[in-house]
Amino acid sequence: MEHTVEVDRITKRFGDFTAVDEVSFSVRRGEIFGFLGPNGAGKSTTIKMLCGILKPTAGRGHVNGNDIITGQERIKESIGYMSQRFSLYEDLTVRENLDFFGTVYGLDGKRLKERMGYALEIAEIGDRVDEVVKTLPAGMKQRLALGASILHDPPVLFLDEPTSGVDPIMRRNFWELIYGLSRAGKTVFVTTHYMDEAEHCDRIALIIAGKIIALDSPALLKDSLDQGVYLLRIERFIEAFDLVADAEFVDEAAIFGSDIHILCSPGFPLEKRLEALLRKEGFRSFSIEKINPTLEDVFVTQARRHGL
Ligand SMILES: Nc1ncnc2c1ncn2[C@@H]1O[C@H](COP(=O)(O)OP(=O)(O)OP(=O)(O)O)[C@@H](O)[C@H]1O
Ligand SMILES: [Mg+2]
Repeated sequence: MEHTVEVDRITKRFGDFTAVDEVSFSVRRGEIFGFLGPNGAGKSTTIKMLCGILKPTAGRGHVNGNDIITGQERIKESIGYMSQRFSLYEDLTVRENLDFFGTVYGLDGKRLKERMGYALEIAEIGDRVDEVVKTLPAGMKQRLALGASILHDPPVLFLDEPTSGVDPIMRRNFWELIYGLSRAGKTVFVTTHYMDEAEHCDRIALIIAGKIIALDSPALLKDSLDQGVYLLRIERFIEAFDLVADAEFVDEAAIFGSDIHILCSPGFPLEKRLEALLRKEGFRSFSIEKINPTLEDVFVTQARRHGL
């Protein structure tokens, strides 16, 4: 199997703080590989090590056949990278931005024109090419930033939270682009903290406190939860949560908005037992429903299992 990205126990320490802790994985050509984790989990630090920007403190790896320690410069030339704070020059026009980035990637003449055309197309710029970037809508800017990062047509893309702060409709639109790139054979490594986005990836690694705690396709990750998962909607839910979380038959309880998700042993008659407990404690208005596990359930369970 052909792997475009392969890392073996890469670690990054800043002083005595370990931001990325012995992380190993590989990404197949054409795969959409997601890194899902909360703030500070180590997603950007990992991506920077893969892009040849940060040197790992320990561990080994390759990106596009280049060593992440000795081949950093070659890696930079052979990848597309949209950093978390990637921004186009807001005061330059669309054309000036693409011209600038194209030149940075060593493009000129016909090739530059051709690739600029492609970037304009995926960003759906229409006739706004001579407008300054700051006047464009957020979703268009985001797509243009993606277009600018792949002007040199690299085989691997690293996208660090490319859709953060973008509304759900524009996010979907952006994901259509990612699918298209993957279908065209590009390998896409993407980080996110949106669970719904993680569902779009071929495989995802759950990362927390610098460690990968689970790695698989979204479907298999959810299948790996052998417990029953229930949704409890209830009045005074904070109070109810404390009660539920302490019940001996509850393995995990987690708050999702104003819902409570409960995990218990497979086959356990949770509805009956929980209803009895809640009534005994004076709760009258609630509903309990068995649901399919979400990635969030997997995340919470795995994090607890790892003592995080
Ligand atoms: N240059 C640095 N020096 C010291 N600590 C750093 C440095 N860069 C990152 N860190 C720390 O390493 C941890 C991981 O940071 P990182 O940016 O990789 O997280 P992240 O998963 O990308 O989070 P976010 O969702 O907020 O972008 C954080 O605690 C951060 O404060
Ligand atoms: Mg980050």
